[in-house]
Amino acid sequence: MKNLIVYATKHGTVKKCVEMLKEKLNGETVLANVNEEFPDLDNFDTVILGGSIYIGKIQKKLSKFAEDNLGKLLKKKVAVFICSGEDNPEYIPKAFPAELLNHVVSKQLFGGELILENLNFFTRFLMKRIMKIKNDYSRIKESNISELADNINEE
Ligand SMILES: Cc1cc2nc3c(=O)[nH]c(=O)nc-3n(C[C@H](O)[C@H](O)[C@H](O)COP(=O)(O)O)c2cc1C
Repeated sequence: MKNLIVYATKHGTVKKCVEMLKEKLNGETVLANVNEEFPDLDNFDTVILGGSIYIGKIQKKLSKFAEDNLGKLLKKKVAVFICSGEDNPEYIPKAFPAELLNHVVSKQLFGGELILENLNFFTRFLMKRIMKIKNDYSRIKESNISELADNINEE
């Protein structure tokens, strides 16, 4: 089995989750940042798409990738996930086309993390003063990463 994970990240949480996921998947797994060059989908049996939520939305490039490649994705085994501070299942239908979500073998919330010192000055200010987030948090849900991997591996 050959797996492709296409991901988008701003501060590294999604990348961290993708590396954990890769360890749990059977077969060969290739990681591709949606902002860089990625391989032809035709070379893969499975495609996993994941990104993170900023002000209620996933990275535009990732949702566009899902829309642009919908026809090919519907012929493969697909799973999707998001990283977010809040566990809100509503983020998933906003992030990916409905037709794709009807086809996926798994859709998961992987949790999120916020390391204030990794943010630029303006964003850190925004988080502390407006969002009232005073401390770092790390709430990656390894059990949901395992569940997605199991769903891919078992079918
Ligand atoms: C400026 C900013 C806006 C955010 N907006 C949201 C949001 O609207 N909803 C949410 O659940 N999490 C929000 N988050 C939390 C991120 O989704 C979370 O930190 C995630 O782990 C980021 O993943 P990444 O580092 O891979 O980009 C926000 C974080 C930042 C820094």
